[in-house]
Amino acid sequence: MTFDDVKLITLPKILDERGNLSFFQNEDQIPFSIQRAYWIYDVPGGEHRGGHAYKDLQEVIIALSGSFDVVIDDGKNKKVITLNRSYNALYIPKLVWRKLENFSTNSLAFIVCDKQYDAEQYIRDYDEYLKVKTNG
Ligand code: TYD
Repeated sequence: MTFDDVKLITLPKILDERGNLSFFQNEDQIPFSIQRAYWIYDVPGGEHRGGHAYKDLQEVIIALSGSFDVVIDDGKNKKVITLNRSYNALYIPKLVWRKLENFSTNSLAFIVCDKQYDAEQYIRDYDEYLKVKTNG
């Protein structure tokens, strides 16, 4: 997996004088069937979240409110993607190192993924990540 597999998906926007609405549903806007959703909020200034990769788990990250940066790393290159629109969904496949940082006040990160929670899915050690990437 490399950066080429990370995709910024523009979700549908229904614009209305009463306000805007966006959505996604399984396998239409996002390329997997959702098994779990979680969200990160009330992040104190200067804190970061994540800082790991998943062995076999795909996810989509949305800034439902506010903004934050997603730093992705494929073991060779790093890239920073700022999420600040609730109609943008960042797709991250398995085996991409990712970290969320630079959270604005009252930001809300919403994440959906294709697997139920399993601590065994995490690679939390960067050197171990590099080994997995090198050895396949
Ligand atoms: P973790 O994934 O380490 O947070 P982050 O990547 O944002 O830094 O999760 C923090 C804690 O929450 C950890 O003890 C596991 C627990 N957790 C669940 O029980 N279920 C979940 O779906 C998630 C994402 C985390």
